[in-house]
Amino acid sequence: MKSQPAVALRDGTEVELRPLERDDRQRLVRLFGRLSPETVYRRFLSPIRAPSEGGLDRLLDLDHREREAVAAMSGEEVVGVARYSRAPGTRSADLAVVVEDAWQGRGLSHFLLKRLTELARRQGIDRFTATIHSENRPAIGVLRRSFPAASFRLNGTEVEAELPLEPRLGFPAR
Ligand SMILES: CC(C)(COP(=O)(O)OP(=O)(O)OC[C@H]1O[C@@H](n2cnc3c(N)ncnc32)[C@H](O)[C@@H]1OP(=O)(O)O)[C@@H](O)C(=O)NCCC(=O)NCCS
Repeated sequence: MKSQPAVALRDGTEVELRPLERDDRQRLVRLFGRLSPETVYRRFLSPIRAPSEGGLDRLLDLDHREREAVAAMSGEEVVGVARYSRAPGTRSADLAVVVEDAWQGRGLSHFLLKRLTELARRQGIDRFTATIHSENRPAIGVLRRSFPAASFRLNGTEVEAELPLEPRLGFPAR
């Protein structure tokens, strides 16, 4: 795998960002095993205990055009993933992101979203959408900061986020 430049988190820790690949299956299983039930619930909006083989297949079904995922690597382990899946025939893609509990609060999601946005723009995507639980303050805060043109609509217990990918404005320095 071609090595990619590392990014430095707020506390100086370095992680490598690279596309998620098929042979990351066991790394995803191990990542899942390190997530708290709350993080799993917030990511999947359902209390999954372990990923099914079919679920893993779907998470790894990436053509790097319609469906892409960026992995944050600490050594050999995946510690965070941001992904998009394009709504067929549109310039819009659904977004999801997860950071391992022990890695949360260090600014990692911002770098994942930044890299994913760069890749999405190259594929002609100009907008992400995301569904978030309305009590998920960290996620709403991250999206608000990372996508300056973000808008949020409350829909029952969930929030529907619209995240235009502006060519110049995005990702102000923190
Ligand atoms: C949302 C998420 C991706 C943010 O990733 P992150 O790398 O921790 O993001 P940051 O380090 O920028 O932290 C975001 C904010 O949440 C706060 N935060 C981080 N982890 C937290 C936690 N476990 N509990 C409470 N607050 C937390 C941080 O202090 C920060 O607050 P600030 O904006 O006041 O500085 C991560 O918390 C996560 O994986 N959550 C579960 C999955 C999820 O909610 N996905 C989004 C929907 S798809």
